[in-house]
Amino acid sequence: MTNELKLGVCYYPEHWPETLWAEDARRMTEMGLTWVRIGEFAWSRIEPEPGRYDWGWLDRAVETLGGAGLKIVMGTPTPTPPKWLVDRDPSMLALDRHGNPRKFGSRRHYCFSSESYRAECARIVTALGERYGKHPAVGAWQTDNEYGCHDTTLSFSQNAATRFRSWLKRRYNDVDALNRAWGNVFWSMEYRTFEEIDPPNLAVTETNPGHRLDYQRFSSDEVVSFNRIQTDILHRLSPGRDVLHNFMSFTMDFDHFEVSRDLDAVSWDNYPIGTLASIWVSPEEKARYLRQGHPDVSAFHHDLYRACGRGRWWVMEQQPGPVNWARHNPAPLSGMVRLWTWEAFAHGAEVVSYFRWRQVPFAQEQMHAGLNLPDSTEDIGGREARIVAKEIGALGPLPRCGRADVALVFSYESDWMTQIQPQGRGFRWIRFAFEMYSALRALGVDIDMVQPGTDLTGYKLVLVPPLLHADEDFVASLEKTSAAVLLLPRSGSKTRSITIPENLPPGPLQRLLPLQVTRVESLPPGATVSAMVGGKRFTTSTWREFVRTELGPVATFEDGGGFWFRKDRIHYLAAWPDEPLLRHVLKAMAAEVNVPTAALPEGVRLQKRGNVTFAINYAAQPCEAPAPDGATFVLGERSMPAAGVSAWRH
Ligand code: GAL
Repeated sequence: MTNELKLGVCYYPEHWPETLWAEDARRMTEMGLTWVRIGEFAWSRIEPEPGRYDWGWLDRAVETLGGAGLKIVMGTPTPTPPKWLVDRDPSMLALDRHGNPRKFGSRRHYCFSSESYRAECARIVTALGERYGKHPAVGAWQTDNEYGCHDTTLSFSQNAATRFRSWLKRRYNDVDALNRAWGNVFWSMEYRTFEEIDPPNLAVTETNPGHRLDYQRFSSDEVVSFNRIQTDILHRLSPGRDVLHNFMSFTMDFDHFEVSRDLDAVSWDNYPIGTLASIWVSPEEKARYLRQGHPDVSAFHHDLYRACGRGRWWVMEQQPGPVNWARHNPAPLSGMVRLWTWEAFAHGAEVVSYFRWRQVPFAQEQMHAGLNLPDSTEDIGGREARIVAKEIGALGPLPRCGRADVALVFSYESDWMTQIQPQGRGFRWIRFAFEMYSALRALGVDIDMVQPGTDLTGYKLVLVPPLLHADEDFVASLEKTSAAVLLLPRSGSKTRSITIPENLPPGPLQRLLPLQVTRVESLPPGATVSAMVGGKRFTTSTWREFVRTELGPVATFEDGGGFWFRKDRIHYLAAWPDEPLLRHVLKAMAAEVNVPTAALPEGVRLQKRGNVTFAINYAAQPCEAPAPDGATFVLGERSMPAAGVSAWRH
């Protein structure tokens, strides 16, 4: 099956005089855009007073955009409940962990657990679905906007406490079972009834890890059930239209795989430069990629959301120029808007939609670029979008991405567990997952993300960033695959209730790998432990384990302790390898299972889609595309400028 590649844009008719709409719509299609997303913050205009709907303006916007030939993604306005609604029912607000209300005055000021707010959402979504569900111009829906944005997944409200207790009752049935699972005999924390249990906040010091983990799971489930209210309504009222939600980067506080089950396709919002500023890569890398974003961050999320969407995904918001919300907001290097767009298509995107059509001269985001300046003249982002539209026409449709040789096991629960019990400051699952991904991507290898427990048949290499709880399905999936498997330290170190397994870590993984971890240490930044691997000296840092086993190690630390263990195709590292060592291990394992690797110029990445290989140059210098001799280029050419993209058929 092949897909036409499509471009789109986010548009807010309510921000502009109606006299501009027709010309905007005309210019969108003339630029080569197909989709336009509207509506996701417009509740105060759709329903200015309780029960009084004002559809007139939205009807005219839909007619104008649809009339110009655009397809509409209709957003539900639930991220921004209007003032009258909040005043009528202040209990719908979320409370932060300090017990303070997250008040009206910006957005996302609601608690996922408020049943009255859920009812209001069902009402407004039904009204929208009834009005536009079968409109020929409405081609897709977006539920709400960026669940979790501004740290809004967890709420510590009364509503949340009540629903948490019911959730616990369903999970444990008997309060003694809960006491045992959490270990509540410790510090006299035993409960006599579920009604006695509060959310885990405002305590004197650290709360019980089992309590926190269940609160995180509960909060994640609240996002799932909140979203499902909307998807159920829209699937019923708007048959044949895809229902999407727009996820974000590095957002781990709810399980996106679970939310995605109710969506037809997944989308996410890609702001490469804004994101770079806030992640843990070195200051040198931040400087090197200041105007480009990190070469693996967008790709990491493209691959993750392709998995969440079961192959079907979009970029709903693409950075078009400088943004307003990061600590500093550099302007993209010339060509980056085009590069980000092609990179998304290379990873399988169906649609890339820019945020936003025109820079808005008022309110919070007035310093955020659009495809056009506030006076409607086309900005750099608009020019680059236009170039991509032409190139898409020349390239034609592409099939979906095929299966990669390598799978990376992506675990939201492991991230929660490492946040609850880092044991060393800053130890976070997501960071290590990204580092593994990045090390292999720099060797030119395509990667699929998979949920723990997914059937791994057909993969040649499986990467397992610290999967703290290895459940039965996961262990069975490893037993079944013939792939080489790389387990990173801390894998199998916890039970489902975040306790130490009876048979010591790595718990049930001992079925595949006869070793036990008897001691761990975490290390502050700058402290390293050396290991000798293949006759060379490398460093490890952050985390080290001491292992008891009959297995002879493949490589040892300088002090003689085992660093790298293997039994047949299952490998285990007993420390966190620094980048050169991680790369060395990955390269050796890839070679053993015939996964080809490449020596790429700095900042260059490869990605295959169908029979086309894309090369993407994130560097600020020109380079040669690493294409075979005689390759037929279908995009760009062998000599690539800074921020260049080239593609050839293989
Ligand atoms: C996204 C959000 C948009 C807009 C944009 C600015 O996170 O969904 O509404 O705020 O950021 O970059």
